[in-house]
Amino acid sequence: MKIAVIGKGGREQALVETLAASPCKPQIFSFPGSDAICETATRIAAADFDGLMQWMVDNQVDLCVAGEESYLVKGEGLANRCAAVGIPCWGPPKESAQLEASKEFAKNFLLRHGIPTGGAAAVARYDEAIAAIGGKYPTVLKFDGLAAGKGVAVCPDAASAEEFLREVFIEKRFGEGRLLVEEFLTGPEISIFGAICDDKYLILCPARDYKRLMDGDEGPNTGGMGAVASRQLASPELLQTIEETIVAPTVRGLQADGLPYRGFLYFGLMLTPDGPKVIEYNCRFGDPECEAVMPLLRGDLASFCLAGARGEFAPELISFDNGWSVCCILASAGYPASSHSGDVITGLDACNARVFHCGTKKTSAGWVTNGGRVLAIVAQGETLEKARETAHAEAAKVDFDGSQRRSDIAYRNM
Ligand code: AMP
Ligand code: GLY
Repeated sequence: MKIAVIGKGGREQALVETLAASPCKPQIFSFPGSDAICETATRIAAADFDGLMQWMVDNQVDLCVAGEESYLVKGEGLANRCAAVGIPCWGPPKESAQLEASKEFAKNFLLRHGIPTGGAAAVARYDEAIAAIGGKYPTVLKFDGLAAGKGVAVCPDAASAEEFLREVFIEKRFGEGRLLVEEFLTGPEISIFGAICDDKYLILCPARDYKRLMDGDEGPNTGGMGAVASRQLASPELLQTIEETIVAPTVRGLQADGLPYRGFLYFGLMLTPDGPKVIEYNCRFGDPECEAVMPLLRGDLASFCLAGARGEFAPELISFDNGWSVCCILASAGYPASSHSGDVITGLDACNARVFHCGTKKTSAGWVTNGGRVLAIVAQGETLEKARETAHAEAAKVDFDGSQRRSDIAYRNM
């Protein structure tokens, strides 16, 4: 089996390595890939999206796996183009990927199908936003488009809201687009992953990610500074509530709206005093949750994804260990506002944990930083205590100039 995995970060390396370890022994190809991914996978010699499609046809790829979201909604959409040339794709078509690409589309979907979520108003202008906030703080402002996890601001007061509104509507930091003003919800967050195949689904191992830059959930939102994953993260009762009130209605809603879906679907939830509510959908696995979840996966992910992409749901092909997995992210200087490249990374040889490269490059000086999030250091254990102790101890061995790491991953909110 030949599998092309689309993306280049730590999530894609975790997917590539897990797919590669499948008993069916697939050959893995990567686009655009990274130096680290290409130690396991073969880099696809293509310069752009058209080149990728042509390469997959010429090389008779059996399965395309969408790691990241951008290609799902680029041009005609990755899955749409795969369908046109007869390549099964694990990842939804463009029309369904609007669940992630447009916060307004997602909110309307949630409300239409009676799925619990915060109230919201969509606005197009600065003054409309101020009116929609109506002086009620904290408020949550969400840019209505892909913004690499940085288009959301939780604003405690008018000054912070006005600053974000200036970025969106005056500086146009994320480009043109509308904005959702959303009700502020409280409670711990949890990331639930579904593998969706038309009207069927499997709920995978839950995880929690840590979005703020600094210890104690302080500082700006990031793409994620760490994650913890375990089947024990949510009680069977909570998982049942989530399935009945959120996952099953979402899958029914997709069917009712004529939105085809085969692929991972990420439910970002907040466990509010009124029960679990959806904060966001993502049409892919989470990053860094994927780096934490994949080492717990047993079975044959490659055959599972191929079957699913063909519309043959095969939940018996995968399962998850009962233990815990903890992922600590090392980010480069300046992240998340900026990032720093070219800093030499030390200590990788001494690190006795799974290491996934989020943003690195291999040079004659060794591995160097090449992006905001640089490395994911991941450890497993039978207990939470063991997994987090190992993950932090091993992450502490790795260093580079200006490295940033949270010391409370899997300690806080547990
Ligand atoms: P999102 O990109 O929509 O997941 O938002 C990023 C982060 O902002 C979430 O993980 C939450 O921590 C926070 N957030 C988003 N929506 C809300 C909300 N309605 N109430 C409180 N916090 C929120
Ligand atoms: N960990 C958050 C995300 O993948 O969007």
